[in-house]
Amino acid sequence: MYSTLYRTHSCGELSLKEEGGKATLSGWVDTLRDHGGLSFIDLRDRYGLTQIVVNPEKGVALQETAKKLRREFVVQVKGTVKKRPSGTENKAWKTGQVEVEAEEINVLSPALPLPIEISDKAQSSEESKLTYRYLDLRSRQLQQNLVSRHRIVKIVRDFYDENGFLEIETPILAKSTPEGARDYLVPSRVNPGKFYALPQSPQIFKQLLMISGFDRYMQIARCFRDEDLRADRQPEFTQIDVEMSFVDEEDVMQLHEKLVQRIWKEMLGVEIKLPLPRLTYDEAVSRYGIDRPDTRFGLELVDVTKILGESGFNVFKSVAKEGGAIKAVNVQGRGDFSRSEISALEDFVKIYKAKGLASLKVTAGGTLEGQTVKFLGEKTAKELVAKMDAKENDLILICAGPAKIVNDSLGFLRNHLAEKLGLIKEGQWNFLWVHSFPMFEWSEEEQKLNAMHHPFTSPKLDQLCLIETEPLEIRAKAYDLVLNGIELGGGSIRIHDTEVQARVFRALGITGESAKEKFGFMLDAFKYGAPPHGGVAFGLDRMAMMIVVAPGIREVIAFPKNKAAVSLMDGSPSSVDEKQLRELRLKLELVKK
Ligand code: AMO
Repeated sequence: MYSTLYRTHSCGELSLKEEGGKATLSGWVDTLRDHGGLSFIDLRDRYGLTQIVVNPEKGVALQETAKKLRREFVVQVKGTVKKRPSGTENKAWKTGQVEVEAEEINVLSPALPLPIEISDKAQSSEESKLTYRYLDLRSRQLQQNLVSRHRIVKIVRDFYDENGFLEIETPILAKSTPEGARDYLVPSRVNPGKFYALPQSPQIFKQLLMISGFDRYMQIARCFRDEDLRADRQPEFTQIDVEMSFVDEEDVMQLHEKLVQRIWKEMLGVEIKLPLPRLTYDEAVSRYGIDRPDTRFGLELVDVTKILGESGFNVFKSVAKEGGAIKAVNVQGRGDFSRSEISALEDFVKIYKAKGLASLKVTAGGTLEGQTVKFLGEKTAKELVAKMDAKENDLILICAGPAKIVNDSLGFLRNHLAEKLGLIKEGQWNFLWVHSFPMFEWSEEEQKLNAMHHPFTSPKLDQLCLIETEPLEIRAKAYDLVLNGIELGGGSIRIHDTEVQARVFRALGITGESAKEKFGFMLDAFKYGAPPHGGVAFGLDRMAMMIVVAPGIREVIAFPKNKAAVSLMDGSPSSVDEKQLRELRLKLELVKK
C-alpha cells in the first residue's frame, strides 16, 4: 500500500498474483493508443509502466475522460487487474503479463505538450534538456542513474559504519582550502568586506577532526571548485571523503580496495580481485606517459633515447643532447595507415605541444620504411625494431622533445589510438593504485614549486633531507585510485609534525606570515597532540558515472551545470538586487580583464 488516497500499487508492480483484484494507480500518461473500440494508456512512474485498458462498455463518462487525456497528464486510475489476452503480453515490462481495466479515471493534473522528448533523448538538444532538466529527469535512463547513485551511497555508508567510521558534517561556509582550484566566494553581510570560501574539499576540517580524536571519519561531502569544466568535472561535485588516524599508506589503500570491491560486487555483480595492482608514479609515467594510465590495452611507451639519440638524425640527436626524451609506441599491424591518417595523428600530438611525430613502417624483411629512415642507418634501425619488438606491418610512432611534452603527447595518443582502433573490450574494470607521486612540481608560470597533491601531504620521510637541495626528487606518501584511465580518487598520509610542515611551506614559498594567515589555526592545532593520520577522497559522481556507464558526470547529477558553469534551468549565476549588494556593503564594478 503506497498511499491511503492516491494509489494501492506502483506502476511497476502488478503481476498475475494480483489478477482479479482491484488496484488504484497514479502516474503520468506515457502513451495513448486508440484501437477503435478499446483504448490503451501506458501509465508511468519511476517504478515502471502499466497498461490501462479503457473499455467503452464501462460507460460513456469514463470514455469521455479517457478521450481528453494527453501525454504527461498526471492521472489516477481505479480498476481491476486482468490477465492480458494470450499473445499480447509485453516481456520487456515487469507488469507485462497484466493490464488494469479502468473503472474510474481522475485527472490530477493536466500537462502542456512537453518542450523536450523524454522517451527519445536524441531528439532534443542538450541545451533544451538542461533548461527543462526536471522533465529530462523523467527519462528512464536518468531515473535509473539516480537510483544507482543512491544505492552506491547506501553501500558506502554501510561499509564505513561496519568499519567503525563516523559521518561528521563539516562547514560549507569556510576558509579557503588548498586544493589548487579557484574558490567560490560568499560575501558576509555582518562582516562587511569579508568573504567565506566554499570548500574545495573538507581537507582541513577532517584533519582537525583527527586532532580532536575522531579517529575514523567519513562524509558524503559537497565540494566546490571554480575550474575549467569537462565531461568528468563539475563546479560542485560530491566526494566520498575519509580520514583515519594511526595509519600509513597501505592501511588506507587496503581498506579502500575492499570498499571498491564491495561496490562493484553489489552494483554490478563483478568480482574485483585484490590486492589491486600498484604502480609508482614514475613507472606509470614512464610506461604510459600519464599518471592515470588506462591499462585495458597495450601500446606502452618505450624509451628509445639511447638508440635514436646517437643516430644520424639531427632532431633526435639534439633532443638527447639537451636532456630530452625520445619515446616510441608500436602500433601492431597498422603499417597500412594512410598518409592522411598519419597526419591526423601528427596534428593530435601538436595539441600537447609536440613538434612532430615520426612514423616508420616495418617491412616483410624486418627493415623500416619512412621519411626518417635514411638518417638512422641500418644498425640503429635494427636496434629500434628489436627494442620495439616490431614485426611485419607494425607502425612505430616516435616523439622527441622535453620529457613532459613527449609523455603527454604519447600518453594521450595512446588513449586516442585505442579508441580509434577499437582496442578496448567492454566490461573490463582495470583498477590500479598509482603511488609515490612527486612531492612538488615546478610551475613555469609562477616560477615556484607547488604541492602536487596539497601542502599537508607527507613526504617520504627518508627523502626529507633533499627538500632544500633537490625538492623535485622527493616522493610523497600520496596515492590515486585509477579506473580505466580515470582518476577516481586520491589521498595521502599527512604531515603531523609542525617542524616538517614548516619546511614544506618554506619550500612552497609560503612564508611564516602567510602560512599563519592562511592556515594558522591548523598549525596551532598540531601543537596540541596530533596523531599520525591520512585519508583519501573519491569522486562519487565519477564512480557513479563509471558504474552506470555514462559519458559524463552530468548523467548522474540531478541538476548539473553546463560547460560554462551555468544552470540553464534556474539561470544561475544571475545578477542580484541593488538592495542585496547594499546590505553586503558591496558595489559592482566589473574590471576589464
Ligand atoms: P582531489 O582534489 O584529488 O583530492 O579530489 C578527490 C577526487 O574528487 C574528484 N574530483 C572531481 N569530481 C568532479 N568534478 C570536479 N571538479 C572534481 N575535482 C575532483 C576526483 C578526485 O580524484 N582533499 C583531497 C583528498 C585527500 O587528500 O584526502 C582531495 O580533494 O575523482
